[in-house]
This record gives sequence, structure tokens and C-alpha cells, in this order.
Amino acid sequence: MNLIVANWKMNGSAAEVTSFADKLDGFLNEVSTSSEIVFCPPFLWLEGLSGIFSKGAQNCSEKPEGAMTGEIAASMLVKAGCEYVIVGHSERREAGESDEIVTQKLASAKAAGLKTILCIGERDGEDFETVISSQVQQADVIAYEPVWAIGTGRTPTLDEINERHAFIKSKSGGNVLYGGSVKPENAKDILNLENVAGVLVGGASLDFESFKTIILGSI
Ligand code: PGA
Repeated sequence: MNLIVANWKMNGSAAEVTSFADKLDGFLNEVSTSSEIVFCPPFLWLEGLSGIFSKGAQNCSEKPEGAMTGEIAASMLVKAGCEYVIVGHSERREAGESDEIVTQKLASAKAAGLKTILCIGERDGEDFETVISSQVQQADVIAYEPVWAIGTGRTPTLDEINERHAFIKSKSGGNVLYGGSVKPENAKDILNLENVAGVLVGGASLDFESFKTIILGSI
């Protein structure tokens, strides 16, 4: 079973999120897929959203509650109906999130009962094995996202993705998603790779038709 995750990042109005969710729900009602679909809109639009998909958040606080202005606790996400949370996305790491904070966030999310999707990946020019070995931790799902592939249209070759996922699996033991410029054109080939357990999709998930084609690539 593949996990296909739509990460909307800081995009979308309430109306756009609802419209996407309705289309997704309708499509998943019609098509038979063994894949699990996870929709991660901005925090604001999570509550009240429902359909035949799982809801995920893009981040959570490392603390369970209290004086953390502007943060959202994992337990609040559970109350808003989330099953998943993305932790350690490279855009958050670039904004200063350390491996130590990522570890605390994973623990907080697990304690609240969320399934964790831990993002790891090397920057352009960095050594893959060194970075992965330092970033990999226990999580329900790992998403391998080479930082240089995010939003750039560049991806590793299929062989590279498969080999790198095998390396990550040997370190983590868990399912490994691929993320970074997944598009309707490349999703099927990536999803067919032996060591790929799904995809984390940013830009191409904003358009329902492209996300639908990506889901169809997993069937
Ligand atoms: P992208 O983003 O699909 O736009 O490259 C993926 C991600 O950052 O999760």
C-alpha cells in the first residue's frame, strides 16, 4: 500500500481547501485504490474537513501545551481530526529547526497519538549518506526529500531513488516515501520502484487534476 501525501505548505484559502477536499472525496469514492491519501492543508483549515482521506498537519509544537505563542500542540491536531503530522520538513530546518527539536516534535506527536512523517534529505553538494545517517530517527514513515529537488523540477534518477531508499530502509526499518518535484509525469515510475512506499507532493498537489493523476499512478 502506498501513502500519497498532499503538502499544501502555506497555500490555499478556506474555499480552495474545501473544494479540493470535496473533489478528492468524490474521486476516492469512485476509484478503487489501496493507497492511503493524506491531505495536509494549512492548520487553519483542518478542523471540520472530512472525506475518504486522512488529514495531516505540516508541523506541530515540541511542547504538549502552554506558553508557546503561535504554536500548535500535537494534541490539538488530534482534536481537529488529524491522523498524521509532517515533522522536520527541510523548509522548517532551513528556518532554524534543529535535529534536537525534530526529535522532541516526534516524541510529542507520538505521545498525542499522531502518526509521524519525518522528512530527511541532503542539500545540493552534501553527502547523502552522511546527512541521512545524522537525520534519520524512528518515525512511522520517513520521507526522503533531497532539498535540491524540492520545487525545482529536478529529481534523482529512478535508480538513485531506489538505491537511496534501500539505504534509508536499512537505517530506519520503516516505509520510505519520496518527495521533491513529484509530478503527474514521473509519479508512476517513482511509485513503481521497489523501495518506494509512496510520495510526498508539494506544488503538484495544489492542482486537483495533477494530484488525481498522481494517485492514478499508484493503482
Ligand atoms: P515539491 O515539494 O513537490 O513542490 O517539490 C515537496 C515537498 O516539499 O514536500
